[in-house]
Amino acid sequence: MKPEELKMCFEEKFGAGGDIRGYFAPGRVNLIGEHTDYNGGHVFPCALTIGTYLYARKREDRKLRFYSANFEHIGLVESSLDELKPQGGDNWTQYPKGVVWTFGQKGFEISQGFDMVVYGNIPNASGLSSSASLEVVTGVMLRDLFGFEHLSNIDLALFGQYSENHYNGVNCGIMDQFSIAMGKKDHAIFLDTSNLNYQYAPVLLENARIVIACSNKKRGLGDSKYNERREECETALKEIQKVRDIESLGALSIEEFEGVKDSIKDPVHQRRAKHAVYENQRTIQAVEALQKGEIEKFGKLMNASHVSLRDDYEVTGIELDTLVEEAWKCHGVIGSRMTGAGFGGCTVSIVQNEAIDPFIEAVGNAYQKKIGYAADFYVVDIGDGAGTR
Ligand code: GLA
Repeated sequence: MKPEELKMCFEEKFGAGGDIRGYFAPGRVNLIGEHTDYNGGHVFPCALTIGTYLYARKREDRKLRFYSANFEHIGLVESSLDELKPQGGDNWTQYPKGVVWTFGQKGFEISQGFDMVVYGNIPNASGLSSSASLEVVTGVMLRDLFGFEHLSNIDLALFGQYSENHYNGVNCGIMDQFSIAMGKKDHAIFLDTSNLNYQYAPVLLENARIVIACSNKKRGLGDSKYNERREECETALKEIQKVRDIESLGALSIEEFEGVKDSIKDPVHQRRAKHAVYENQRTIQAVEALQKGEIEKFGKLMNASHVSLRDDYEVTGIELDTLVEEAWKCHGVIGSRMTGAGFGGCTVSIVQNEAIDPFIEAVGNAYQKKIGYAADFYVVDIGDGAGTR
C-alpha cells in the first residue's frame, strides 16, 4: 500500500462522504542517549520521514471502529467509548484506544465515536517506535476532530507516554513520543528529560548518511526486561539519595557518581546506574562535538554508548552486537550503536556515502551467517514531527 491509497481504503471500509481528515506521525531514531530518559538525563533523537498515516471521520454515536492496512488479517475492530479499560486487549488497537482513554483521564472527554484507518511504513517491533508514532498520530487526530486546538504537541507527547504507562503497562520515558511530536527536518532534538527543555541541533553529515540496520529479532517492550532495568535504576537512585540529595541519576557528573557509587550495594545495580550517568554525559559531549563539526568524535561517543549498553546495561544481545561489531570493522563507518530499548530492534550507524553499499553487503552477509536470518537496512532521512496532512 502507498500512503496515497489510504484515503481510498478508508472509503472502502467505512464509506465515502463527510469530513474525512488525514494525519501523519513519524517514527524516530535515537542518535545517542539511551536509557537515560527515565533517569532524568539527556537524549538526542530525531524524527524520520517514515511513519504512520491515519484517516478518520467522526461518528454521531459512541462507536469506535478501527482498521489497519498493516494487519489485514485482524480486519475491522469495533469497540465503543464505554468499553475502554487499561490493558484490555492485545492487538494494535490498544494504542489508539489508550490515547482516547488518556484524553478522558486528562479532562478532555471524547464525546462521540469515530472511524479510523491507519497504515504505517515503519517496520513493526523494529525499535523505531511504531507504537509511539501510532499514539501520537491518534492524539493529533483527536485534537483536530474534537476541537482541542489549545493542546500543544508536547501535551500530545505526554498523553502518548501516559497512555503507554497507564493503559499498556510499559513504563517508558518521554523520548519517543516527544521526538515524534516535536521532530524537525534535518535536526535532532537535544532534550533534557528532567525538565523537558529542548534545543534543535542541525544534523549536517555532509558526505555521510544515517543507516539503520534492523535485526528482525521480534520483541515488544512489554515482554522485554525494560521495566526491570527501570526498577534497577530506581533502586540505585534510592541508595544514592541516602548520601546525596539528588532528584535523578541524570543530575550526577561522572566525578560525583564515582564519589557516591559505593552506596549502591548490588554490583549489578551499580553498573546500571553507571551506564545512566556516563551515557548522559556522553550525550552532552556528543551534541557539543556535532555542533563543532567534530563528527569523528560524535561517532566515537556512539561506539562507546554501545559498549556501555552491552557491558553495563546489558540490553544488547547477540543480534545487535553482531550488527554493531561488524559495522565497526567496515571502512567509512563513523559510528555505530544499538538504538531504542534494545533486546532486538535496530542499530543506527553513520556511514560515509561511498561506503554505504559495501557496508550493507558486509554487515548483512556476516549477520546472515552468524544469526541465521537476514537483517534489513534503511538509509533514512530526518523529517518533521506529527501533524495534519
Ligand atoms: C524505549 C522507550 C524510551 C527510552 C528508550 C531507551 O524506546 O520507549 O522511553 O527509554 O527505550 O532509551
